[in-house]
Amino acid sequence: MKHTLLALCLSTLIAQPAVAEFHNQPHAAGIETYGYQWNTPDQDMNRALAHPADAKKGEAAYKICKGCHKADGSGLADADYPQLAGQHASVIIKQIMDIRAGRRDNPRMYPFSGDWIVSAEEIADIAAYLNALPTPGSNGKGNGYNLAHGKALYEKDCATCHGKSGEGDAGKFIPMVAGQHFIYLKRETRESRDQGRRNASPEMVKALKSYTDADVEAVSDYMARLSVAGKR
Ligand code: HEC
Ligand code: HEC
Repeated sequence: MKHTLLALCLSTLIAQPAVAEFHNQPHAAGIETYGYQWNTPDQDMNRALAHPADAKKGEAAYKICKGCHKADGSGLADADYPQLAGQHASVIIKQIMDIRAGRRDNPRMYPFSGDWIVSAEEIADIAAYLNALPTPGSNGKGNGYNLAHGKALYEKDCATCHGKSGEGDAGKFIPMVAGQHFIYLKRETRESRDQGRRNASPEMVKALKSYTDADVEAVSDYMARLSVAGKR
């Protein structure tokens, strides 16, 4: 009986290669690969970056993202869905391009990132729309027990790139971390340290090398509480 069921499932899979393709994220070279170069632009990304973005069109195209990242771009504090409102457009474009090319593993979002559902130009429009969205009221934070330690770590190891207030740098594709959800920041920091975030900045991975889980927790709580005037 089990075998018949298995055979049935297999034949359904084989009969629908197109569907299977949409759900299997490709695996491109990442930070674990010898000689990996961070942020070498691909054709798709260049097309998006060169597109004269239209936030109005982006608002309409954003409908496929809303289910997870929410209508106001606030994500979900307790479910790993990052806040996108206010994030730099260049960062949003790079991250989606990395997901769709398989440089950043995100099997949940992958089916919503490919060119069968959203074009490079629409991605640029969505990024412009999200960048201009006002800050949602609140974001997830940690327990607040170790903020002094988190601040010391952040100012020593992170502020040179992410900025004193966590504002990031649009020109260098460095994300704004201020006001992002704690759970997401903790996860990305830990994954970058352990090389699970395959598109991470190699210099940042070096900075995180000696971090314990407690350090990651403290610095993430500190980042979640940073704010950028007029943004988050
Ligand atoms: C099925 C749920 C889902 C849908 C739909 C979805 N996403 Fe995501 N997205 C996620 C998850 C989960 C993550 C975080 C993954 C991780 O932790 O690595 C994410 C991460 C991102 C990031 C990275 C943010 C950062 O700070 O690095 C961007 C940008 C993004 N999504 C944009 C979009 C856009 C634009 C759309 C629509 C075209 C979309 N997403 C649709 C689930 C989704
Ligand atoms: C050399 C510059 C640099 C340094 C130093 C650095 N970062 Fe980063 N960080 C980056 C870049 C660039 C990215 C985006 C990587 C990518 O392209 O996916 C990033 C991404 C992140 C993210 C993911 C944000 C998101 O929206 O997905 C977190 C969290 C983060 N950094 C935390 C830290 C912490 C904590 C430190 C200090 C221990 C630190 N970074 C030090 C450059 C840096």
